[in-house]
Amino acid sequence: MCGIVGYLGPKEKKNILLDGLQELEYRGYDSAGIAVISQGKLQHFKAVGKLENLREKARDFRSEGLGAAIGHTRWATHGKPTELNAHPHVGAFSYVVHNGIIENYQELKKELEAQGVRFLSQTDTETIVHLFEAFINKGMEPFEAFRQTIARLEGAYAILLISEAAPETIFFAKNGSPLLIAFDGDEVYFASSDTAVIGKAKEAYYLEDGEYGFASAGEVRLFDRDGPKAFSTQPLPSDKAMAQKDGYRFFMEKEIYEQSSVIGDTMLGRVLDETIEFEELPARFFEGISRIKICACGTSYHAGLTGSYLLERLAKVPCDVEIASEFRYKEPLLSTDTLFITISQSGETADTLEALKMAKRAGLKSLTICNVDNSSIVRESDAAILTRAGIEKGVASTKAFATQVMVLWMLSLYLSQRDDKLDRDRRRRELDAMRRTPKALVVEEKLHERIHRLSKRYLHGHGFFFIGRDIFFPLALEGALKLKEISYLHAEGYPAGEMKHGPIALADAELFTIALMPRSLLYDKIKSNVEELSARDATILAISPEPFELADDFIGTQHSEHSMLEFFEMMVVTQLLALEISIRLGNDVDMPRNLAKSVTVE
Ligand code: G6P
Repeated sequence: MCGIVGYLGPKEKKNILLDGLQELEYRGYDSAGIAVISQGKLQHFKAVGKLENLREKARDFRSEGLGAAIGHTRWATHGKPTELNAHPHVGAFSYVVHNGIIENYQELKKELEAQGVRFLSQTDTETIVHLFEAFINKGMEPFEAFRQTIARLEGAYAILLISEAAPETIFFAKNGSPLLIAFDGDEVYFASSDTAVIGKAKEAYYLEDGEYGFASAGEVRLFDRDGPKAFSTQPLPSDKAMAQKDGYRFFMEKEIYEQSSVIGDTMLGRVLDETIEFEELPARFFEGISRIKICACGTSYHAGLTGSYLLERLAKVPCDVEIASEFRYKEPLLSTDTLFITISQSGETADTLEALKMAKRAGLKSLTICNVDNSSIVRESDAAILTRAGIEKGVASTKAFATQVMVLWMLSLYLSQRDDKLDRDRRRRELDAMRRTPKALVVEEKLHERIHRLSKRYLHGHGFFFIGRDIFFPLALEGALKLKEISYLHAEGYPAGEMKHGPIALADAELFTIALMPRSLLYDKIKSNVEELSARDATILAISPEPFELADDFIGTQHSEHSMLEFFEMMVVTQLLALEISIRLGNDVDMPRNLAKSVTVE
């Protein structure tokens, strides 16, 4: 979710770092910083906001001669986007940059504080630099101190560390977050993505999880659990735009594929062995709350609708959901025992923001589920849970939706813990299913290929109906929205049981029905709804783990006892279907006509 760069060599270091960070800014941009050790001198600069601010701050700085330098652009996870919380984090004589989340940082922090270490920031990252220095202070060699530090860390990380204890050296480690080492002769570069070093270095090695080591005097020593390790480099790609898309044709496609890993980020430190934790929620935040109202727009509204089923079912809290632009002008009756939850990818949507202000004026407590820290909606809310999807570039939202739904599911379970609303077994089943979600989101090549082939039959017709029941109804709404946003074909989402009350009049061979038929939830009910449509000659594309003989087309999903796993798997199918239809129609997938990523006007 953040961007990292590093450089070891004789060139002027500031510009190498800043240019590299510029390429990574799309990954996170609420603050940035650089640190340089050159000819015995240690210096750092940090700035909140866009990279330009850092450029401005470091304008007069130049570093001559051989030296080590690291930089970071941040997308806040722990702690607000302030200068103190910006990377590089500093100890007494060392600096660290880190991408990922250190899950056991609180335990480490307590330990270090007990030894008299003073922390400057609220971040998990700062523990790394202090831990390293504590080992040095015990007389350890720098590399051994780094190795011991890494051994204590739990969670995900890509780390670069420089220290006066070992000038002209960069220590590195990777586990769960991307990191590569790139070379140009004796010069060594580090980056979280190759876009940062394309055009500078010629070849690269992409680190594997569990690898760590150091670069010194133009040489890189690599280690893993079994000891020293040989590695070979590969040539770097030459096209930057392609590299930003990691080889995918469109950002939307890349973001669909990323869902499996970002859902992991969303859950990190929150889904624990037996419970759900949200350390960002103040103690007693839910005291006096007996109802929930969710308010949002577009895709976020669909996430909210999904959440309302989960909140009532798991947390047993009455919950209703409103479209923000409707809520604002309906003269709603509000009571202060209602928690007002807004959901927004951008945190800037005008209608959602105004709805939030209205609720606050009425004295309601507010919580936002948002992807952008320090956004207007986050700042306006009493509390925020960040979805940690990373920057979403495709206008049609995919990974933001997936992470919003995940947060709502976790929140439902979190609230159910309050008064033991669920028995132990049920809670365990929910937690188990959550842990299996990243796997359910992995896009199988065979599936994508099948959807690609099927898509050619769905480029015309007089309309699409996506139908589902229960949580698959909001998913049907979202599937239809995805399709219309990027294909410009008419599509509607509908509750399957409601088709007979009107829309079935439209049924004929040119009406395409995309039927979401999970096995774990109301299968027989939806089956008879689809049979009714089939009897009227509608063309049916069934998405189900259960073969369905009346379907004209069929996409098979996994059998799973938990409906949320089926939900996430079917979500991917509907996203890919929209993507493939849009590509065949020759549309601009990432920037569809008439739409904007963030709508800051009413
Ligand atoms: C725009 C975007 C949609 C998004 C909606 C709400 O219309 O095109 O993709 O769902 O705004 O945005 P938010 O940032 O509040 O989630």
